Amino acid sequence: MRFQPLHKHATTDQVLLPAIKKRWSPRSFSNQQPEMSLLRRVFEAARWAPSASNEQPWRFIIGLKGDETYQKIFSALDSYNQLWAGTAPVLMLNIANHSSKRHPGRQNRWAEYDLGQALAYLSIQAMSEGLFAHQMGGFDADLASRLFDIPDDHVVVSVAVLGYPDDPDLLHPNLVEAEKAVRKRQDISEMVFSGKFGEPFRNW
Ligand SMILES: Cc1cc2nc3c(=O)[nH]c(=O)nc-3n(C[C@H](O)[C@H](O)[C@H](O)COP(=O)(O)O)c2cc1C
Repeated sequence: MRFQPLHKHATTDQVLLPAIKKRWSPRSFSNQQPEMSLLRRVFEAARWAPSASNEQPWRFIIGLKGDETYQKIFSALDSYNQLWAGTAPVLMLNIANHSSKRHPGRQNRWAEYDLGQALAYLSIQAMSEGLFAHQMGGFDADLASRLFDIPDDHVVVSVAVLGYPDDPDLLHPNLVEAEKAVRKRQDISEMVFSGKFGEPFRNW
């Protein structure tokens, strides 16, 4: 019998964009490849993210399952992420260009911030079309830099997979519980302040 897909929608009393409500980070991925036109669209969404001085410091290296790029990115993952990420059809390396194009010789200190925004745009576009992203910080950035000859003024910040969820029970036994767990967030009062740091904003 085909498995029941997990729905791990945000539990909220606020009306959110459907893609934001539905998005979550699965670990069990099927081997179904996304259409190349969809892949192109999610990177187009990343392309239109805002960035400091419109520097667009994001750079991506994409591997498709079976190709050498995928294998190299996979080899840089830590052992925890290697337990699950290898079934996903797309692996990507997310890189920030720290050199400013507008101000040669100057550092762009918002490069990683802007890379994160590009990933957020990409994830939401993907989710609005049924494609899931799962970002990772657990990898060897030095190894990834060496494997791909990343220039010195660029930093490999994260890895992500893209794909479609599969049966959670196919995961390594250590990962099944987390896959099925309810998603949690801190309360809004712990993150939105007024007056001074730590004092909740109360004028909603
Ligand atoms: C920068 C970043 C690094 C992350 N690193 C990992 C990781 O190494 N391994 C992993 O399984 N998940 C990783 N995650 C996924 C988070 O654990 C996940 O987004 C968080 O628990 C919230 O869950 P949700 O995305 O399903 O809402 C990472 C997410 C981000 C944004």
